[in-house]
Amino acid sequence: MPSTLLVTGIGELTTHSPQPVDTAGLHAPDESDPAALIVADGRIAWTGRAAAAPAADERVDVEGRAVIPGFVDSHAHLVFAGDRAGEFEARMTGSRYSAGGIRTTVAATRAASDEALRANARRLLAEMARQGTTTVECKTGYGLTVEDEVRALRIAAQECDVATFLGAHVIPAEYADRRQQYVDLVRGPMLEACAEYANFVDVFCERGAFDEVETRLILDAAKARGLAVRLHANQLGHGPGVQLAVEYGAASADHCTYLDASDIDALAASSTVATLLPGVEFSTRSPYPDARGLLNAGARVAIATDCNPGSCYTSSMPFCLALAVREMHMAPAEALRAATLGGAQALGLTDVGHLEVGARADFAVLDAPTYLHLMYRPGVPLIHSVWKNGARIA
Ligand code: NIG
Ligand code: FE
Repeated sequence: MPSTLLVTGIGELTTHSPQPVDTAGLHAPDESDPAALIVADGRIAWTGRAAAAPAADERVDVEGRAVIPGFVDSHAHLVFAGDRAGEFEARMTGSRYSAGGIRTTVAATRAASDEALRANARRLLAEMARQGTTTVECKTGYGLTVEDEVRALRIAAQECDVATFLGAHVIPAEYADRRQQYVDLVRGPMLEACAEYANFVDVFCERGAFDEVETRLILDAAKARGLAVRLHANQLGHGPGVQLAVEYGAASADHCTYLDASDIDALAASSTVATLLPGVEFSTRSPYPDARGLLNAGARVAIATDCNPGSCYTSSMPFCLALAVREMHMAPAEALRAATLGGAQALGLTDVGHLEVGARADFAVLDAPTYLHLMYRPGVPLIHSVWKNGARIA
């Protein structure tokens, strides 16, 4: 018989309803009357006051700590080799970020063994777990040949929760003079070879990467193949990416660093999530996206790390939450919601990002009495323990 687990003594339990509500979904922010939850079959079976908790086979007392849904990191690039610390140093002393650096990682990734790529992805996933992340989306994009994209996507699909095909990351050096041929490769044989492992198809729609016409060709091919889409949009300047994401019914438009009023209106009128990646702005010294404009207009907002060796090499959702609050003026409750439920929406997942009955038992116990400490105490390791499907993973 499957055993049940009671987690009790919860000083503050944030459940988050998947329905759009204004509250953070808090139970018992009062240590004299703690909250509890019950896990059965890897899912949340009950939440409420500890005093009223039904009996369970096992019991864990978290002694007044806060419990939150595990973070859903809906944008990461984890299958790569090497790093670009020198590029970061140059940027911090005056250079600008450009998409061209991606080719450096492409060369290192192509030269790496499958085992090395898998080990590096696992190392980053372990970092993420230790920082409270329980669901991870992972993109390809550092292979850029049929063979290298397939192996990256296979690793992403095996190691991560959601795998995204990003053959359209940049034009690889060997296709520099024949862009159209590379676009045709991506939307033809490469897409065909990757489709069985891909949950989504993504395009870096940006000056220096893929323009509107090229992006449309790739999105059309993805849709014709029955694959869901998401876009890297409006990262390095204003462009057509956000409007295309909405037009194509993308699950998410990611970055959204440069938005005009019509972009915000389009996102607000759509179900496309605006995924904000403030670690990128921090690490590239760029202006932060207009999170307040998006939230005030009623757009759906997610926060993710974009963990990658170029534009942002953090695996820390708590760090991104602190940036969201301090730099993008999100209320702490808005930021937590965006990093959990918002990420789930950006991935089209309904059973993660919240702790309502029936959700996966993916949660983080904080070494703090309230989730507010995640933003109030930036840089402090506040993750006490992390559970995925009801089993402790960190
Ligand atoms: O999301 N924008 C494109 N791709 C990544 C950066 C990749 C890199 O610099 O290696 C991003 O920022
Ligand atoms: Fe990215």
